[in-house]
Amino acid sequence: MDWGMKNRMSQLIQPDGHCFFMPIDHGYFQGPTTCLEKPGETIAPLLPYCDALFVTRGVLRSSLNPESSKPIILRVSGGTSVIGKDLANEGITTSIDEILRLNACAVGISIFVGSDYERESLLNLSELVNQCEDYGIPVMAVTAVGKELEKRDARYLGLCCRIAAELGARVVKTYWCEDFDQVTNGCPVPVVMAGGPKCETELEVFEFVYDGLQKGAIGVNLGRNVWQNPYPTAMAKALRSVIHENKTAGEAFELFNSEKNK
Ligand code: 5RP
Repeated sequence: MDWGMKNRMSQLIQPDGHCFFMPIDHGYFQGPTTCLEKPGETIAPLLPYCDALFVTRGVLRSSLNPESSKPIILRVSGGTSVIGKDLANEGITTSIDEILRLNACAVGISIFVGSDYERESLLNLSELVNQCEDYGIPVMAVTAVGKELEKRDARYLGLCCRIAAELGARVVKTYWCEDFDQVTNGCPVPVVMAGGPKCETELEVFEFVYDGLQKGAIGVNLGRNVWQNPYPTAMAKALRSVIHENKTAGEAFELFNSEKNK
């Protein structure tokens, strides 16, 4: 691995081998997502607790301070919306020149395995890898399921993650599921977990994150379950304790409860 690639990967993955990425990219297909209407305001108190931000170029330019040293994972796929025909019909939205100009530490792109646009999205990933590897920029593949949340089982997600790695992704983002070790064991690159729609309870979030880490994930890329919580900073601190301080789900829940009343 060349120096630039290693340097970027080490900004993303901390010395303990773990990472806490904070996604605020949802607007690229959902519009002004609840609690993300003003992304700059939402994210400001959470920045100290996460290791990198996952964001589009538009929100980066309009809402984030360029003097911040927080690493940026640039969302570079899109072109569809929740009210359009098919969320899977994405293209690459951002040129390599723009990726370099914005000093991205990595880029993220969705793949839609099993959809009508499987081939296009996988070739988009491959093309992005071809462009980014020349400049030492890691590509994170996002195993997207569109509106079909029931697709989230180990067999399907394991297939998606392995394909993403085979095509050159340096990191793969997927959903947590039962038997998550089947997903991580078949994937030769680091796996991070997304949160998905907001869970019923905070404990549920800490439990799946803890379980996924035990089963080989290196961390999370988890947004709505943090910034849609009524106590987002307490949530971010508690999650950080599971990811970087080896706390259990129960210990994180205790921390959340003590922090939310401060
Ligand atoms: C949506 C994404 C998000 O980055 C991903 O889903 C993680 O966010 P959440 O934890 O809210 O699901 O790719 O475009």
